[in-house]
Amino acid sequence: MAKRNGQCYLFANWKMYLDYDDSNILANAIAAAKKKIPATVKMAVFPSALSLYPVGQVLGDVGISVGPQNVYWVDKGGYTGEVSAVMYKAAGCEYALVGHSERRLQMRENNHDVRQKTEAILAAGLTPVLCVGETKEEREDGKADTSIEIQLRSAFHEIVWPKDRELIVAYEPVWAVGTGLTCEPQEADRIHAGIKKMISLLVPNAEPVILYGGSVKADNVKSYLTGDNTSGVLVGGASTKLESWMEIVNSLE
Ligand code: PGA
Repeated sequence: MAKRNGQCYLFANWKMYLDYDDSNILANAIAAAKKKIPATVKMAVFPSALSLYPVGQVLGDVGISVGPQNVYWVDKGGYTGEVSAVMYKAAGCEYALVGHSERRLQMRENNHDVRQKTEAILAAGLTPVLCVGETKEEREDGKADTSIEIQLRSAFHEIVWPKDRELIVAYEPVWAVGTGLTCEPQEADRIHAGIKKMISLLVPNAEPVILYGGSVKADNVKSYLTGDNTSGVLVGGASTKLESWMEIVNSLE
């Protein structure tokens, strides 16, 4: 594993699985279990916008970061239904997911939107967690690498990366997200190496942290973390229950 500062990244995307009460219950349970989470695990949780603030208060007390699953790129104004990166920063967030495949596909977010959001996240003082990945068709047509390259170029071309800000990319093959299908660990690590190489050209001053995501569970997490180019995982479904989350944490030991 490519540990960053000796840490393994375990990031939890709760998506829209948990309502306000469920989110607070899980946050409190994780906070209570914090002693059992090794200090070498760097954890961040991405709850719904509705529950982010109270969840952040509970998890912040035990050193776990939070962030939104999406942001809007304008700071303030007549944008009904949106929440800006600046507002999330003021609410205590550290990270923000951007470009998740569910938003790209279901909400029709394009690479241009993802770029604007990435810039807004950086400007607000948050760290973007850029999600990239190929669709099933792209993989079958041998276009996985090209699809990922286009997403990376669009998000990072000539971007000014603040000094000392982490640069995190989560490789999440679209066909593996929420499906139970998984990418072979060696293939995931090969893609991660390609992502690192692209980033060395696009953002030469950054040291990228690459995560794998897509149906990660306790029984496969370790196989991803053995990759030389992999610093952690972004977990969806299995992060939304205390039991399956702690199984993942415990399987690291
Ligand atoms: P999954 O989701 O673990 O449920 O496949 C991963 C993600 O969407 O980040």
